[in-house]
Amino acid sequence: MKKRLPLGFFISLEGIEGTGKTTQAEILSEFLLSRGYDVVLTNEPGGTVIGNKIREILLWPGHKEMSPLAELLLHNAARAQHLAEKILPALKEGKVVIADRFTDSTIAYQGYGRGIDMSLIISIDKITTGCIRPHLTIVFDLDAEIGLMRNRGINKDDRLELEGVEFYSRVREGYLSIAERDPERVKILDAAMSRELVKEKIQEIVASEIASISNDKKRWHSGI
Ligand code: TMP
Repeated sequence: MKKRLPLGFFISLEGIEGTGKTTQAEILSEFLLSRGYDVVLTNEPGGTVIGNKIREILLWPGHKEMSPLAELLLHNAARAQHLAEKILPALKEGKVVIADRFTDSTIAYQGYGRGIDMSLIISIDKITTGCIRPHLTIVFDLDAEIGLMRNRGINKDDRLELEGVEFYSRVREGYLSIAERDPERVKILDAAMSRELVKEKIQEIVASEIASISNDKKRWHSGI
């Protein structure tokens, strides 16, 4: 019988390209499953059939003419579907949701990277998510140049990966500012460490968050 957390537990993993967060999301999912939790591993943009169709539109390298506003709205459309169809139902069932990216990506990429006015991004997020944030967000922090080099190594080719180092440096700064403003929720992890060390650090952070929340009787039922 799987462990259920009455209000679920929502974790997002964030960072620029090339940080290894997608591999670590899978490792974390296996770790939590082995501890008896019911886990939903998902990603943005994507996570649903509709979300994956929107992802294709967003990332196709041929869509060079896409306006920043269209990009912002498409990410939000994918997220609205993702929340309604997958994230919220899973949390209601007491599952642990691990999302490879969520709203902080929009703030970092469309806000800091593209330079879209932050008040517009937040107004749209109010409509899309009601400004809900994960219980825990781990930012994989890495120098933009190293991230891009690592990513070229695996030969990914999508529209955002055609951006240069200046764009990714702004996105990285965005993530660091988000973490500075919300240190309770957002933890920064040095993604330049070895894969093994990153894995251990994440497991430490997640286990301690789940333990502290489990002790909070206002938030969780006892006896989990
Ligand atoms: P991925 O390759 O990590 O799955 O991410 C897809 C790309 O989409 C990545 O370059 C980051 C970008 N992105 C945004 O620009 N805004 C967003 O809100 C999200 C979720 C992703």
